[in-house]
Amino acid sequence: MKRKIMVFDTTLRDGEQVPGAKLNLHQKIEIAQQLKRLNVDIIEAGFPASSAGDFQAVQEIARSVGNSVSITALARAVKSDIDAVYESIKLAQNPLIHIVLGTSNIHVEKKFNRSKDAVLQMGVDAVKYAKTLLPQVQYSTEDASRSDFEYLWKTIEAVVKAGATMINVPDTVGYAVPEEFGELIRKINKRLKNLDDRVILSVHCHNDLGLATANTLSAIKNGAEKVECTINGLGERAGNASLEEVVMGLKVRENYFNGYTDINTTELHRTSRLVSHLTGLDVQVNKAITGENAFAHSSGIHQDGLLKDKRVYEIMSPEEVGADSMELILTARSGRHAFKNTVERMGFDTSDADDFEQLFAKFLTLADAKKEVYDHDVFYLVTNHRTVE
Ligand code: KIV
Ligand code: ZN
Repeated sequence: MKRKIMVFDTTLRDGEQVPGAKLNLHQKIEIAQQLKRLNVDIIEAGFPASSAGDFQAVQEIARSVGNSVSITALARAVKSDIDAVYESIKLAQNPLIHIVLGTSNIHVEKKFNRSKDAVLQMGVDAVKYAKTLLPQVQYSTEDASRSDFEYLWKTIEAVVKAGATMINVPDTVGYAVPEEFGELIRKINKRLKNLDDRVILSVHCHNDLGLATANTLSAIKNGAEKVECTINGLGERAGNASLEEVVMGLKVRENYFNGYTDINTTELHRTSRLVSHLTGLDVQVNKAITGENAFAHSSGIHQDGLLKDKRVYEIMSPEEVGADSMELILTARSGRHAFKNTVERMGFDTSDADDFEQLFAKFLTLADAKKEVYDHDVFYLVTNHRTVE
């Protein structure tokens, strides 16, 4: 049976940590409403202990969309942060407290300057306290991919016994590679299922080596049941796993992963553009799924194949992700087939073979000079050619 993979969106928390991506209250609510339309399972609305503004934004998001989507916010393993999360999300129907604490040696030694046991105890105390406030608590073992495995597992075991209902395994600095990260998740999943099979195993991957999507998909293949992502892959430094890539990776290769999400994929393009518009951060043109060129074809060989059957060069349709339909960009490399298709689509007759050859020659001259030829260029070319004749 296919497994449902939960999608946790952290655009409004990790995504908002991008320099220059400051969103005001109304913009955050607009994004949260669009995330609801996209049908994500959980929205991480912010880090309420960080400022009064962040607290208010989380609270307003919980009020406005918290009746139909689970809302969470981030806390360090300290009471005041946990209180701030609780107070800001308590009006949501399905609130979740998210606690983060490092498990790698470098975090324990350099960040906390405490013994491993003392750090582990902080985590356990934080979970126990959070459980007095809400039933759902997620625990993130920050820098998990660089942690000593036995200490990582000891931490997971202890916080699950203390009541954590979700364990999130972050590749905080984007250090992992897919095979290794998948293996880590497989090992944790095996032990976790023996310990308490109701606990949800989640991953959170960063993109420092450009591997966030690959690591996330590898984790799914190895047992992860929930993924943390952001729209357009926004996030700290090189960003987080991009929601649209992970979701479409799973959808296009559903049989390979034996899993699915409940994401309304036809909202992906709109969501990407909204986030880009409100944050002022462009989507790179060749970005998978939502980039301007994601469904544009310019090679003549490809255009010829696509005109015969779209599936020759398309593994998903633009309509499936809510983008405009396939675009053939005419260039000097476009063949007769693509040019003819455009001319006919514009309502012109091409049955006179000699006339068409003359037109095609003019088109090639124009394409050499202009590089890209648009519909209005073709219209002018044909009408001018026929008027002159
Ligand atoms: O990257 C990270 O480790 C995080 C945690 C808060 C999950 O963002
Ligand atoms: Zn992160």
